[in-house]
Amino acid sequence: MSDPLPLFEFSKFAGIHDPRFHIGTATAAFQIEGSGHTQGRAASIWDQFHGAGHSIAGDGCAHLQHWRDDLKLVKELGFDSYRLSLSWPRLINDHDGHVAAAGVAFYRQLLQQLQQLELRAVVTLYHWDLPEYWQQQGGWCNRQTAIAFAQYAKMVAETFGDLIDTIYTINEPWVVAMLGHRSGEHAPGIQDEQAAFHCAHHLLLAHGLAVNEIRAHCSAKVGIVLNGGPCDPVTISSNDQRAAQYAYQEGTELFASPLFNGNYPELVLARHQQHLPAGWQQDLLQIQQPLDRLGLNYYCRYRISEQHGEQPGCAPLSTMGWEQSALGLYRWLTKLQRQHPLPPIEITENGIALEETLTEAGLRDPQRWHYICEHLKAVDAAICDGIDLRGYFVWTLMDNFEWGHGYSQTFGIVHVDRNTMARTPKASALALQASLKQRQQNSD
Ligand code: BGC
Repeated sequence: MSDPLPLFEFSKFAGIHDPRFHIGTATAAFQIEGSGHTQGRAASIWDQFHGAGHSIAGDGCAHLQHWRDDLKLVKELGFDSYRLSLSWPRLINDHDGHVAAAGVAFYRQLLQQLQQLELRAVVTLYHWDLPEYWQQQGGWCNRQTAIAFAQYAKMVAETFGDLIDTIYTINEPWVVAMLGHRSGEHAPGIQDEQAAFHCAHHLLLAHGLAVNEIRAHCSAKVGIVLNGGPCDPVTISSNDQRAAQYAYQEGTELFASPLFNGNYPELVLARHQQHLPAGWQQDLLQIQQPLDRLGLNYYCRYRISEQHGEQPGCAPLSTMGWEQSALGLYRWLTKLQRQHPLPPIEITENGIALEETLTEAGLRDPQRWHYICEHLKAVDAAICDGIDLRGYFVWTLMDNFEWGHGYSQTFGIVHVDRNTMARTPKASALALQASLKQRQQNSD
């Protein structure tokens, strides 16, 4: 038998040792629920994308069948919070806004079980599964979708608000706009510059409108989740430096600036103003709402060259080809904090895709454990520097449907057997469980 992985000694890191700092794990509906739209859910753009042969169809993790055990597992692993997303097409059947009773019943039971288990429920409203019936009307390129999103947010706030601690409106608007509408790697697979910026603007507007509805109908905390990281020039040439500065503005500031400073970033406007929808200036006030939380998803830092765009990271890389840089997380946090008046922050996703080795003792993933520990230390360092960080979520609970990569990329701390759907915690999950137990004992 090989030895278990070493414990992470939370007691050495005052900021994250404090029991008021939440530690959880995150998932998203389309990546785990499974059973397609056969169980009362309307089709989403990802079903459509599969259909067009862009990525591998599958059954998620059959979470619709296994959700009770999955939540128990989250509790057993020692987490105090669980971040999930609700599926818009499971809750609302059509553009007339008809509410789907089966979807409401499913999420109500699930949220009630979280409450019984004393797990803090952190809910994302939009983790990329736009109802196909809205895509048929132009999707995020159509302003109407932002209005429909606000209606969906209202319905969630009214129906489930009492069971939710924090509602995050939209997950990673950059990915939705740029991978979904510029490069076409994600659903709906559009490749068009103007579509990407119309989408970005309408996502921000959707967020702003939804915040009003959520505040009016429940007392959950409200925020949005952004992704990103520092962008470094590959050389010190002024061209590469300018390119890196631009990449950062487009990657992070395209959303952070309107949300927290009330305008689009200068360099992006200079290049793309003509791609924004007419009258965008009139929406800025609506977009810049006071928030209770900012969620940040961090995976890696970016290396940028003027001539060749984004370059491969420095080793060690994940199987996604992403550089492992905990320092990058610290740098991103401090930069954001310097540039914006921010609400309290949670790291809503952080994790790594790897190939694990199967040994007699189970699935060994020391590199993942190392990654998590280093990023926890970076979070603690940021707290020590005065950044108001309230939580950290490991991405992700279990190996699941990794969007354009199908099931080939495994980010989970729990392995899922694709034939039997059996869940088996990996060594990293067990090490985290033991470390969280020790943290709990030390703070009792
Ligand atoms: C997304 C997740 C995804 C993860 C790894 C984030 O961009 O929110 O849904 O699985 O990154 O690619």
